[in-house]
This record gives sequence, C-alpha cells and structure tokens, in this order.
Amino acid sequence: MKLSGFNSLGFVLIVFVMLSACSTFAMTEFNVLNFGANLNGRTDSTNSFLKAWNAACGTADSTFIYVPKGRCLVGPLAFKGQCKSPQIIIRIDGTIVAPLDYGVLGKSDNWFSFEGVSGVSIIGRGIFDAKGPSLWACKAPNSNSCPSGARMFCKSNNIRINGLTSLNSQMFHIVINGCQNVHLRGVKIVAAGNSPNTDGIHVQLSRNVEILSTFIKTGDDCISIGPGTENLWIEQVTCGPGHGISIGSLAKDLKEEGVQNVTVKNTIFSNTQNGLRIKSWARPSSGYVQGVRFIGSVMTNIQNPIVIDQNYCPRNENCPGQVSGIKIKDIVYEDIRGTSSTPIAIEFDCSSKNPCTGIRLQNVNLTYLNKTTQSFCSNVVGKVFDLVRPNSCL
Ligand SMILES: *[C@@H]1O[C@H](CO)[C@@H](O)[C@H](O)[C@H]1NC(C)=O
Ligand SMILES: *[C@@H]1O[C@H](CO)[C@@H](O)[C@H](O)[C@H]1NC(C)=O
Ligand SMILES: *[C@@H]1O[C@H](CO)[C@@H](O)[C@H](O)[C@H]1NC(C)=O
Repeated sequence: MKLSGFNSLGFVLIVFVMLSACSTFAMTEFNVLNFGANLNGRTDSTNSFLKAWNAACGTADSTFIYVPKGRCLVGPLAFKGQCKSPQIIIRIDGTIVAPLDYGVLGKSDNWFSFEGVSGVSIIGRGIFDAKGPSLWACKAPNSNSCPSGARMFCKSNNIRINGLTSLNSQMFHIVINGCQNVHLRGVKIVAAGNSPNTDGIHVQLSRNVEILSTFIKTGDDCISIGPGTENLWIEQVTCGPGHGISIGSLAKDLKEEGVQNVTVKNTIFSNTQNGLRIKSWARPSSGYVQGVRFIGSVMTNIQNPIVIDQNYCPRNENCPGQVSGIKIKDIVYEDIRGTSSTPIAIEFDCSSKNPCTGIRLQNVNLTYLNKTTQSFCSNVVGKVFDLVRPNSCL
C-alpha cells in the first residue's frame, strides 16, 4: 500500500510538471480547417494550405500548423521563406492526396517544396499519396510523351521530418538538394518495385544530413547520393524492393563537386538489384568520392551486394565510352553478410585512369545458393581484414 501510494504521488507530480511545462510552451496554432481546407479528398485545398503557411510564417512566435485526420486534396505548393517565425512545426495526421489528373503535378517539378526556409519540422503519422501509378503507366510505352513528374523538394536549412509516409510518388519521392542540417527519422516510402525513377530519398549539394530508421520499398534507388554531399549519416534503413543505396550516378558533368564523409550503418536489403553501390559514367569529371563507411549490413537475395561501377551505363544506351574521371578512395566495407542472387558478390570495376584506392574489406560473408561466390576487380587497390567471403581479389 505504501509503495503504491508513493507511486501515485510520483505520477501526480510528473503530470503536474508536464502540464506546467506545456503551459509555458506558447505556440500559435494554425489549423488548416480554419483557412477553408476540406477533408473530403475531392475539394482542392491548396490555397488553404498556402494561407495557413503564410499566417504561420508571418508570426513572430513559434508556430504550429495542424492538418487533422481525413483526406486533403492538394496540388503543387511551394512553402517559401524568409519567415518571421523562428520555428514552424507542421503536424499532419491526415492523408494528403494529389489531384487525380497526373498532369496537374506533372507540369510542376515539385509537389511540395520548401525553399529558403529554416527551422521547419514536419511530424505526425500522415501520408502523402501522390497517385503515381497513372503517370507510371503513361511512361511505360513511351516516356517522351509524358511529363517527368513531381517530387517533394527541400532547399532549406534546419529541417526535421519525422514519422511520415510517402506513397507512390510520380518520380523521386524526397529530394534534399542545397540543404544543411536535415534530419529524417521514421519515414516510410512505398512504391511498386517496377515503378520508373521512383528513388526513395535523393541527397545532393547538402551537408549534415541524417536519415534514420527509415523503410523504403520502391522501383529505383532506395537512397541515391549525388555530387556535393558531405557529412551524411544513414542508419537503420530497410530497403527492398529497390536498387539499393547508391552513391551516384556521378560524372554526369565535367565540373562536379565531390562526395565525402558518408556513413551507412546497420542496413537491411531484401531482393534488391544492388546493396551498397558507387556508380559513375565513363567520362571525365572533376568529382570524387572519399571517406565512405558501409558498416553492418544484412542482405537477402541481392543481385550486386557490393559494387563500384565506373562504367555505369544502364540498358547500354548512349554509353559515353570514355574513362571515368571520378577519383574514389578510402571506402570501408565492414560486417556485411547474407546472400547474393548472382555468382559475383563483390565487384570493383574502377577507372583505368583513376584506380580506386584505400578500399578496405573486413568481415564480409556473402553466399550464393550455398556455393562460394566470386569477386571481380579491375583497377583497384585495397586491403582485407578478418574473414572475407568471397575471397577478395584486392
Ligand atoms: C563526418 O560526418 C559526421 C556526421 O555524419 C560528423 O559527425 C563528423 O564530424 C564528420 N567528420 C568530419 C571529419 O567532418
Ligand atoms: C557464412 O555464411 C554462411 C551462410 O549464411 C554460413 O553457413 C557460414 O557459416 C558463414 N561463414 C562464416 C565463416 O561465418
Ligand atoms: C542451403 O543449404 C541448406 C542446409 O544445407 C539447405 O537447407 C538449403 O535448402 C540450401 N539452399 C539452397 C538454395 O540450396
């Protein structure tokens, strides 16, 4: 009795402390319903969202934009800074649906974009349903006659995205381009395994980006990492179906920024085309990749579990046929195990002009139909530590 009396007193105290903390945590709230948003999923609410954003953005307080449960139809929408509000939290509990006609989003590059803002958090259990399949179907016979499609786009600083789901994007799901300090956690991305160009998360020209505890099933790279990416931390990402986690494609352009200091930790891949990949076109470029750690990965039935491909040319169309200028060095592969769906589990196809250097394999065990797998090496220098199966060709 004494003990339980103490416990309930403790509980009351905690609740009291929490309540008083909340009441001093003043935030101006803007509910999209008060700006005319409709929850029937058919009436266009784009303007209501924009008005709620403008009201929050123009308030000197910390602000809170609320999207309640229900379905809101929203077309292309740009949230722009500079805002007076130092901190804007957007909480989405409902589903945001794209217009049925794919041309409405398709005409715009982006569905939702955050440009030039700072200190924005997007949280909640909400779903962004981009209704991509109709555009994918248009692209299937002849992509020339279809729009390329819209993405979620961010060119901003100090952004948090927590817990949201992005469903069936028209093309890339989330693009982080020209950003600093972006934290994604608990995000879910879902699209069909054969959907075209539906990369899960694309990062480029950005520093200090974290992607944690994220589930991605899609038709292209789960995460793709482009030029100018620095200090990227990826941890606990589950990928599949999809094309794996890829640095590249690089060497699209002659002048290109490098990729450096990337950590990819504790990943799970199932039935993907690639696991951990670095890819560049075979043409000159000023770009580079250095300081990458792939640590801890469990792979099941992966076509190319570990691959560096400096002769990248999908479907062998318009191959540049030159030598890759991308310099790749200091890449670590550690604690990687599982199954390959092809006999070659490790492939390093590097540039003859710029061989890959400082490649380190440690504790790798990849099998294929219970048989030993093989590795392939071309223009690569590195070292092996502890057990590595397949036998390395380094
Ligand atoms: C590398 O990036 C991580 C964050 O991903 C950061 O903590 C670390 O300081 C960076 N290292 C260097 C040398 O910049
Ligand atoms: C490598 O993995 C295979 C299949 O999972 C397993 O049977 C084998 O014991 C592992 N080898 C080592 C040395 O851990
Ligand atoms: C691999 O070997 C295990 C145990 O010997 C067996 O149960 C399994 O069916 C084999 N898998 C394949 C794909 O041959």
